[in-house]
Amino acid sequence: MTQILDGRALAKQIRAEIAEEVKVIEAAGNRKPHLATVLIGDDAPSQAYVRNKMRSCEKVGFDATLIKKPVETTESELLEIVSGLNNNDAIDGFIVQLPLPNHIDEDRITLAIAPEKDVDGFHPVNFGRMAQGLPCYKPATPFGVMEMLRRYEIPTEGKEVVVVGRSNIVGTPMSLLLSRKGNPGNATVTLCHSRTADLTAHTRRADILVAAIGRPSFVTADMVKEGVIVIDVGVNRVDDASRERGYRLEGDVDYQGVFEKASYITPVPGGVGQLTVVSLLLNTLKAYKKEVY
Ligand code: GUN
Repeated sequence: MTQILDGRALAKQIRAEIAEEVKVIEAAGNRKPHLATVLIGDDAPSQAYVRNKMRSCEKVGFDATLIKKPVETTESELLEIVSGLNNNDAIDGFIVQLPLPNHIDEDRITLAIAPEKDVDGFHPVNFGRMAQGLPCYKPATPFGVMEMLRRYEIPTEGKEVVVVGRSNIVGTPMSLLLSRKGNPGNATVTLCHSRTADLTAHTRRADILVAAIGRPSFVTADMVKEGVIVIDVGVNRVDDASRERGYRLEGDVDYQGVFEKASYITPVPGGVGQLTVVSLLLNTLKAYKKEVY
């Protein structure tokens, strides 16, 4: 029997835990945790993600501030905003939603964010601390996957994990977290990418397969072994005239095809994506409590 890893239910449970903590914080007469989000331009998926983040803050009782600026915003204007947030004691953590317009250097912006407020975990200081197993903010999506594995009590020690996709925000940190000492962790990790020769030979060995490629239904049934645990990180918009909004969301895994072979699988939507936002809340709470720095 294939078991569905229900990100929606898990996210709801974690939000309830956070909300409970916020109540205790408020009852003690303290201010609430406060997350700020900077959104530049009008990229449609980014707007949807940011809406979702703001709504999630509300649900758990955090304060949330959205700083929305037009696409023409210059790099130096954005650096000013970042500097203002770094120095604003009323903000515990903040994120600059990516992608940024082409005229802004994302790396320069990421480097300008104070590591102690970098609740996305994108700054090299946080990334380096993560790689060394030091206290840090973990990037939201890999953190969410780790929470999912931990709470579903899926063993990872000694397992063959294959991560497909080596992005800075998902594939690479995922491979580090799963190979590190800990639970989840202690896995033998293979990181595959667009230049990997004979990808299927690798993916068929996987006890746990993490798909973070960004291509709809890329992983097919012939690429996995019987009993595989499938973590689908993909959130792809696929044109679909039968839907009112004109598209549907599809993961990086051919869900229908792979389902029968999998022992556990995350759906899209309703899987990993739900936990990504919750991870951001968990990091914001850590920032508030000064647990990392
Ligand atoms: N764009 C896509 N995912 C993310 C994320 O986790 N954080 C930010 N800041 N931008 C994103």
